[in-house]
Amino acid sequence: MSEKKQETSELLTKAAETLKRELAKLDDKRAILRSPTLTGLYSQLRTLPQEERAAFGKALNDLKSEVAGWVDASQDDVKLQPIDVTAPFDVNTPANHKPSLLPARDGSKHPLMVELEYMTDIAYRMGFAIEESRLIDDDYHMFESLNFPEGHPARDDYDTFMTTDGLIAPAHTSTMQNRVLKKYAGNLESGNPIAVLVPDRVFRNEDLDVTHEHTFYQFEGVYVDKGITVGNLIATLQALLSSYFGQALKAKIQPFYFPFTEPSFEFAIERPESLRKGDTEADMWLELLGCGMIHPNVLKAAGIDPAVYTGFAWGGGIERLVMMKYGIEDIRHFESGKLDFMRQFS
Ligand code: DAH
Repeated sequence: MSEKKQETSELLTKAAETLKRELAKLDDKRAILRSPTLTGLYSQLRTLPQEERAAFGKALNDLKSEVAGWVDASQDDVKLQPIDVTAPFDVNTPANHKPSLLPARDGSKHPLMVELEYMTDIAYRMGFAIEESRLIDDDYHMFESLNFPEGHPARDDYDTFMTTDGLIAPAHTSTMQNRVLKKYAGNLESGNPIAVLVPDRVFRNEDLDVTHEHTFYQFEGVYVDKGITVGNLIATLQALLSSYFGQALKAKIQPFYFPFTEPSFEFAIERPESLRKGDTEADMWLELLGCGMIHPNVLKAAGIDPAVYTGFAWGGGIERLVMMKYGIEDIRHFESGKLDFMRQFS
């Protein structure tokens, strides 16, 4: 063996011994392939004269294969745990790769929950009872009870997720209208209105972009009594939203269509000065939510006589309001779990 070859082989033998010692100490055995003891040899290869490179390169690759073989052998000993979907990370993650849990003092409420509670609080003080929605529902509550008979074309506007046995991830909080009307019907008999706010999560089959998410939150209002008119609807929403934004807002309604209201409207507010983009009339107004006078068929489905009682309802996304309030440009931030985003609100 030439002197040079001898030297190379000693160098590699020594490296192999070092690597073996390092491997024994590692929790994640794969990390050995990134060890400087090994990667350093590759850097060294580049500094060698041309005629020595091929031989050294080959010997080095052999060493690397050998080390990879050790890693494979060690993996065979590792028993994989069954997956635990409730664990905060993959239970088979090697110990030194586990994310450290954040200290409790770094935790805070999600900004959407804070805002939803704020909105709920305002409605509560206005006399509304609060009822949560459901995260899985059925065709009757999603469509039938809301005056969308089977085959109604407007069903397509609420394209959402379904289980194979026909249960539905609700596309709007209106799924609760029939339930709350029935639950609070006794109010009417005792001469009081039905006034309920339903804040909760809803789902849509959406193409995602800066203003569209597949999962978002709505706040739905339902109000029924004798002699209720569109004027009551506008005044109630104006009071609720002015209170939410902390400033008096001008509002307007424009005609729209929902199967469960007649007439139906889109409710728009005049953008507060700070949120104005341009000067044109179109830029001044911001469509915030859908609303209308509850359709007689919806009242009837809940056992309320539409000849005696009338009412209004509305439903809108809370993200839109929060984005406007805080100048958030992308709705996807909310569900991203990005700590940088969350920390701005803690
Ligand atoms: N559910 C409708 C939607 O998500 C919004 C809506 C419109 C709710 C009119 C209502 C209403 O209660 O009366 O598009």
